[in-house]
Amino acid sequence: MSAYADQRVLVVGGTSGVGLATASEFVVQGADTVIASRSPQRLEAALAELAGLGGTATGQALDIRSDEGVEKFAAAAGEFDHVVVTAGETPMGRVDALPLSDAYAAMDSKFWGAYRIARAVRVKSSGSLTLLAGYLSQRPGKASALQSAINAALEALVRGLALECAPLRVNAVSPGLLRTPLWEGMEATAREHMYEAVARRLPVGRVGEAADVAQAVLFLSTNVYATGTTVYVDGGGTIA
Ligand SMILES: NC(=O)c1ccc[n+]([C@@H]2O[C@H](COP(=O)([O-])OP(=O)(O)OC[C@H]3O[C@@H](n4cnc5c(N)ncnc54)[C@H](OP(=O)(O)O)[C@@H]3O)[C@@H](O)[C@H]2O)c1
Repeated sequence: MSAYADQRVLVVGGTSGVGLATASEFVVQGADTVIASRSPQRLEAALAELAGLGGTATGQALDIRSDEGVEKFAAAAGEFDHVVVTAGETPMGRVDALPLSDAYAAMDSKFWGAYRIARAVRVKSSGSLTLLAGYLSQRPGKASALQSAINAALEALVRGLALECAPLRVNAVSPGLLRTPLWEGMEATAREHMYEAVARRLPVGRVGEAADVAQAVLFLSTNVYATGTTVYVDGGGTIA
């Protein structure tokens, strides 16, 4: 029997990229899966994709930037065995070029959004909470000081929460560059050049896929000896 039979899981950000890949794995493995994100259209499309895998998936509109919205959602949602947060939007830019309002918005979305979920959503003490950070925490680029700080803050948050919330296990996954819809706003040729340049630098010779990261999330949710840790799935980006 699957490790996830009779288990309820929540993937916040489950309508795209890493979140959708993670929700797909949970559904395939028999979990009763709830996905949440802001856009009703994205929810509808993701649920249609998940329905094709069999199993049970439902969706809920949620904006993790809203204190009240997250609290209302948590109160109505009940208790989960595993919660994963992949949601977040972090505009990129050098500290001297990015408007302060965008910098605050990035922190509010990715860091405080995850913090709000961790604070409000009920997770069984036998289960797990997994947050998505990013390898820039360890290897900043020339225009990513803010992303580095947000990701490092999330990695520190899971270490603290793993103590505060024990025996609940709390971990992070820090990906390197991934081929996901996160980059859809970028001009297509420039985006391919970015992927090619990064692939050339990485020891594995390619950029990541959402499924590479979903695998790590499922590992952390099932491995009962893993807590307070960050798994880097970055193609060797931190050492290259
Ligand atoms: N892709 C990469 O290269 C990469 C590299 C390193 C780290 N990461 C990190 O990995 C995580 C997942 O990235 P991804 O590539 O899977 O991104 P993605 O494809 O853009 O998906 C982001 C998901 O989050 C949801 N979301 C965004 N803001 C939200 C909000 N305020 N409230 C609720 N849901 C929200 C989006 O749906 P709605 O628009 O419907 O809300 C979407 O489902 C992020 O934390 C990202 O920073 C990604």
